[in-house]
Amino acid sequence: MIMGRTSCTCHDIPIETFRAAVCNGAHNVKTCFRAIGCLPKCNNCIPMVRSVLAALRPAEAPAQSTATLPVASPNVSTHRGP
Ligand code: FES
Repeated sequence: MIMGRTSCTCHDIPIETFRAAVCNGAHNVKTCFRAIGCLPKCNNCIPMVRSVLAALRPAEAPAQSTATLPVASPNVSTHRGP
């Protein structure tokens, strides 16, 4: 059961987008954000992303420290692509 935050408010990404990323092969927080095409900013949504991973890929959702995640610079666009 996922409680609390249900979206990444920094990027306006709903939880359904993270679920889709996991269903399409993302296996940790980093690959979830990479699949969506951005990087975490404030990290407040990381527990929500982890809960999605634990619910959909329980055998592949290791405990991670947010200290190891890349964090986007506040003045730099984090969206990739055209
Ligand atoms: S709420 Fe997701 S990075 Fe800030």
